[in-house]
Amino acid sequence: MKGLILSGGRGTRLRPLTYTRAKQLIPVANKPILFYGIEAIVRCGITEIGIVVGDTKDEVKATVGDGEKLGCKITYIEQDEPRGLAHAVLVSEQFLKNDRFVMYLGDNVIKDGIDSLVNEFRTNKPNSQILLAHVSNPSQFGVAELEGDRIVKLEEKPKNPRSDLAIVGVYMFDENVFKAVHSIKPSWRNEYEITDAISWLIDNGYSVVSHIIKGWWKDTGKADDLLEANRIMLELLERNVKGKIDPTCRIDGKVVIEEGAKISGSVIRGPVIIGANAEIVNSYIGPFTSIGPGAKVTNSEVEHSILLDECEMTDLNCRLTDSLIGKQARIMRTKGLPHVNRFILGDQSEAELL
Ligand code: DAU
Repeated sequence: MKGLILSGGRGTRLRPLTYTRAKQLIPVANKPILFYGIEAIVRCGITEIGIVVGDTKDEVKATVGDGEKLGCKITYIEQDEPRGLAHAVLVSEQFLKNDRFVMYLGDNVIKDGIDSLVNEFRTNKPNSQILLAHVSNPSQFGVAELEGDRIVKLEEKPKNPRSDLAIVGVYMFDENVFKAVHSIKPSWRNEYEITDAISWLIDNGYSVVSHIIKGWWKDTGKADDLLEANRIMLELLERNVKGKIDPTCRIDGKVVIEEGAKISGSVIRGPVIIGANAEIVNSYIGPFTSIGPGAKVTNSEVEHSILLDECEMTDLNCRLTDSLIGKQARIMRTKGLPHVNRFILGDQSEAELL
């Protein structure tokens, strides 16, 4: 079997972070989201993986490389425009050839992995296997209607969903999917929808089986989803404290501190990860926080947040929470009068004062 990971598209819902980076490369627990998908596929014993890339191809290639350090061989497949998930399959035809494959959306994270589901697909050999999950907001997903175990209808982001069963971003196919993606027409939003391709398979008598997954899964399309994914993934970390920590510090619970980090006069309460060469001075880093490599937090408090590489927080007199701070961004309190707030925010930034 082969793997196909989709890492093209435009992360409009995650602007401004995605003005400067691919949405699939935003870190969750200091690891790019895309890596969770690659690792999940490699754990199934699949080592030939294609990654579909678009505008952000250079950054994706620079981050993932040839796959050697992740235990696989990566082939990059270029898609000229994000014309839909079925179009991404279409442009991958040469790479996939006649092999069965698992397709993983590069912005999805599945806590329990996909090994057992892929094994089932290998053993039972249906033409396609899809994963479903009960959600509270089905109209933001592809939605399936079932009769018993049988899929009766699939609809992409319906206004009036017929069930609460969302299509999870992991799909398995055999070569018959190419007949489907060659046959379907673009949808109302002008995309070649994978949901339409799967419906085509069902309508033409191919076997499509579905599984309702019970474990935690997230499509990290929005800021709050990233914070939730960060929370879940940080809880899975094992305590591993390296770096230079002065004796006045308190480091409680599941905390990962990477090589070269310096911590002084601070309290770190896990689950927390602090990246290589970050510096924490006289500060409180509370649960569910990821501090990126080279970031610096001084005289400040932060919890339930993601701080990206090399950002700085200095002398804040209130606790920062539920926040996503981009690469090299700086938040600081300066001395002087009058007591005002001053912002220099990029396009589509958000600042909330409570
Ligand atoms: O996450 C599950 C949902 O993913 C499913 O329930 C939906 O049925 C499915 O259509 C998809 O919906 P999204 O709106 O979340 O898809 P998105 O546009 O975010 O694309 C998913 C991934 O695929 C993302 O990493 C970008 C990449 N992509 C997307 C398009 C449209 C490509 O590589 N090429 C593309 O043309």
